[in-house]
Amino acid sequence: MNFGTSPLDFSILPYTEGVNPPVTKPNPAFLHDIGEKGMRDLLDRFYMGLFESPIKDIFPQDKEEMKIAGQHSADFFIQICGGPKYFNQNRGAPQMRGRHAPFHITPNARLHWLVTYEEALQPIIKEKQSSQENIQSFWNYLNVFSQWMVNSRD
Ligand code: HEM
Repeated sequence: MNFGTSPLDFSILPYTEGVNPPVTKPNPAFLHDIGEKGMRDLLDRFYMGLFESPIKDIFPQDKEEMKIAGQHSADFFIQICGGPKYFNQNRGAPQMRGRHAPFHITPNARLHWLVTYEEALQPIIKEKQSSQENIQSFWNYLNVFSQWMVNSRD
């Protein structure tokens, strides 16, 4: 594995209304590096971060429900990284834009969502659980695909 020293680029692409840029799936090697448990731990940290974040109001208000939501999300991320199709099995076809439609997702909410994700990724970086290249590929996916989820101006 290459755990090179080039810095990760967590810059956030600006949102442009009406533009859904082409999405590249994360490198499956990211899942290979951290394992399914690593992904479940990541989504647990992320959802606990969201629970305390400025956008907490759009998520479940109960901590246990939030943990369950995080694991549905982990099912999705394992699947999108080439792992078993847990999300399809447990929740049905992803149809992510449709699933997000009931929630008020603004460009600013996307920024908070991404910053919270960046924080949740820190232990993976610090503990060198994956290579810079693979973490970057995962981030690039989030950075681009999160633009698709924005459905409100403000
Ligand atoms: C890369 C982009 C994103 C992906 C892959 C993603 C993925 C998911 C997944 C898999 C679920 C669970 C759906 C289900 O179990 O039916 C979910 C739920 C949700 N997402 Fe996202 N999401 C993304 C971006 C966002 C953004 C930018 C926001 C808001 C700032 C957001 C807010 C929500 C909310 C409010 C829910 C419902 C909470 C719940 O599960 O009860 N998502 N998302």
